[in-house]
Amino acid sequence: MKQLTIHTDSRESTILLGEQLQNLPKYLPPGKCIIVTDDNILRHYAAALPPFPVISIGTGERHKTLKTLQLIFDKLVEYEADRSTFIIGIGGGIVCDVCGFAASVYMRGLRFGFVSTTLLAQVDASVGGKNGVNFRRYKNMLGVFNQPEFVICDISMLATLDNREFRAGFAEIIKAGAIKDKNLFAYLEENHADALRLNPTVIEKLISESITIKSAVVEADEREKGERKMLNFGHTFAHALEHITGMLHGEAVAIGMVLASSLSAKLGYLSQPESLRIRDLIEKFGLPVSLDTDLRPVLKAMKKDKKREGDSISMILLDKIGNALIHKLTFEQLENMIYDLR
Ligand SMILES: NC(=O)c1ccc[n+]([C@@H]2O[C@H](COP(=O)([O-])OP(=O)(O)OC[C@H]3O[C@@H](n4cnc5c(N)ncnc54)[C@H](O)[C@@H]3O)[C@@H](O)[C@H]2O)c1
Repeated sequence: MKQLTIHTDSRESTILLGEQLQNLPKYLPPGKCIIVTDDNILRHYAAALPPFPVISIGTGERHKTLKTLQLIFDKLVEYEADRSTFIIGIGGGIVCDVCGFAASVYMRGLRFGFVSTTLLAQVDASVGGKNGVNFRRYKNMLGVFNQPEFVICDISMLATLDNREFRAGFAEIIKAGAIKDKNLFAYLEENHADALRLNPTVIEKLISESITIKSAVVEADEREKGERKMLNFGHTFAHALEHITGMLHGEAVAIGMVLASSLSAKLGYLSQPESLRIRDLIEKFGLPVSLDTDLRPVLKAMKKDKKREGDSISMILLDKIGNALIHKLTFEQLENMIYDLR
C-alpha cells in the first residue's frame, strides 16, 4: 500500500492507495458512523460494508442535486447523526462530491472520509476537497472546499466497474499527463493496452502518479486562485457537453481536451503534431474525440460556467505536452474559433 498526505490550510488528507474496503474500520474513529453510497455499490458490495446505517443515493449525474442532498439530510436526522458522527462516502465521483458536501454543511460540518471506487474518482474526484452538486443542471454550481480525512483507493473494486465507466476514468489521467507530466503521457502511450486490461502494476502506477500530480497542485492552491485552474484543462467544454448531451464526465472531458488542444494549436501555442498525439491517445482509450451535435447550445451552456468573467472566459490551453497555460478569450472569439475548428 502507498500512503500520500495532502497538507492544506484547512486539514491534512491521507490518500491510501491499494488499501482495501475490508480494512476501512481501521481508519474510523470510535462512535457513530454512517455510510453514504449508491445502489450499484450496494448491489456489488453490501456484504463487505461495515455494520453502520447506510444511506443510498441513485446513480448517474442526474442525482447530483439538491434533492439528493435533502434525502441525505432527512436520513441523517432519522439516524440521529450528531456533531460527533463520522460520515463515510463509498462510491465514485458522484457519491464523493455529494457526500462531502452533505457532511460539510450538516450541523456546520461533520468529519468524513471516502472509499473511492471508480478509476475516475481514484485518480481525481475523491482527491482535493472539492465537494458539490449541480444546480438547474449546471455543473457543480453549489459546493464547498473541504478535505476528506482519508481516501481509500481500493484498486480491486475496479474489477466490477462497467467497461465504459472504467475507460472514462482514463480521461483524467491523460489530462494529468497533458498539463503536468510528459513522462506520464508517454507512459500512457506505451502502456494503454495493459492499462485497459487492468494490469495491476500499470494501473497502480497510473493512479499513483495522477494523485501525486493532483496533490501537489492542491497543496499549492487549494481554493483555485491560480495553479489549480490548470486541472480544468478540457473541463470548460466538458461541463457544457455533459449538460447538453448527458455523456459521462470522462467522455466529455475527452472531447473537451481535443477541442482545447486544437484551440491551443490554432492560437500558435501547441505544435500540430502534439495536438494530434493528444487526440490519438484519447482514441486509444476508446474515448470519443469528436462531437456530432449543434454547438450553439454547448456555447450557451459555457456562458454559465463558473470561470466566466463578464464577456470573457479563461481557457486552459497547452504550449506543449506537460505544460498548461491560461488564455482569456471573449465568447465571440471562442465562438468563431470553435466553428472554424469544426
Ligand atoms: N470533486 C472533484 O474534484 C471532481 C473531479 C473530477 C470529477 N468529479 C465529478 O465526478 C463525477 C463522475 O464520477 P465517476 O466517473 O466516478 O461517476 P459515478 O460516481 O457516477 O460512478 C460511475 C458509475 O459506476 C458505478 N460504480 C462505482 N463504483 C463501482 C464499482 N466499484 N463497481 C461497480 N460499479 C461501480 C456507480 O454506481 C455509477 O453508476 C462527476 O459528477 C464529476 O463532476 C469531481
